[in-house]
Amino acid sequence: MNAPLIDVRLRQIRLEAQGIASYELVSATDAPLPQFTAGSHIDLHLAHDMVRSYSLANAPSDTDRYLIAVQREAESRGGSTWMHSTPRVGDVLRTSPPGNDFPLAEDAPQSIFIAGGIGITPVMSMLRRLDALGRRWRLHYASRSPAETAFVDELRVMGSGTGEVDFCFGSSRIDRVDIAAIVRDAPSDCHLYCCGPARMIDAFLDACACRPAHTVHFERFAASSEAATEGGYDVILKRSGERLTVAPGKTILDTLLDHSIDVPYACTAGVCGTCRTAVLEGEPDHRDDFLSDEERRSNQSMMICCSGARSKTLVLDL
Ligand code: FES
Repeated sequence: MNAPLIDVRLRQIRLEAQGIASYELVSATDAPLPQFTAGSHIDLHLAHDMVRSYSLANAPSDTDRYLIAVQREAESRGGSTWMHSTPRVGDVLRTSPPGNDFPLAEDAPQSIFIAGGIGITPVMSMLRRLDALGRRWRLHYASRSPAETAFVDELRVMGSGTGEVDFCFGSSRIDRVDIAAIVRDAPSDCHLYCCGPARMIDAFLDACACRPAHTVHFERFAASSEAATEGGYDVILKRSGERLTVAPGKTILDTLLDHSIDVPYACTAGVCGTCRTAVLEGEPDHRDDFLSDEERRSNQSMMICCSGARSKTLVLDL
């Protein structure tokens, strides 16, 4: 099922901006870290069974470390608060090997990126990779103020090479990044990327509706829909034969964990794909942002952290 976890040692914590810290992780053993591609993330195991996905910000050629950045969230579900208060340099943490749900089209003649806030993290890795390849890129980076913006100094330097950086600071400026104009003016062979708040992604997808799907890339940090917690249906676990009732207020994942059934999960928000589970019978109520429309229509799999059931029973391959 899941690849074995890796022990990593926290070598450095650095304040990148107001409320944003970066964490440099190196191998805690003699084994080298698994390599990664631009746009990858790791699922970091925190305390109390919390698992959180963090994008890697360093260059893939930087093979001896993983660099992540974490924003302190006012409405944290625990992960960002823990990361900002608990780990100390020298601590050993456990992580999944890197996975990539947001890959870079390395051979695109030109790439345009739209990033909002902490959404810059995977984009940093992509820009470093494109710089190494000598490819052209342009970044539109929206944030509240320079003091709250991570990697500003580095980007100012990077923006003098094959890339260009447009900063857009201001509390309402995310709305003022003219995404429609950026997309409209992009050359037809250009690949477009967006990572940021939900409304930014939604505007990006609207603007890109007429562009070839393989040139449009995005990654969400939070689901655009509420999780299905209406309950009132049963889940049958095909392999063990167990039948569990999902009560109101609970997701399928909650229900499984309440019964000490160990399943992989990370974001709990329907965006990372870690909890994807095959559906053998029944109709899911899809609430994730991971599956494609076609995959949802097929009802062959679902994200059990946030999706529910339209039928009275779901049979899952668990
Ligand atoms: S745990 Fe991330 S999609 Fe379900």
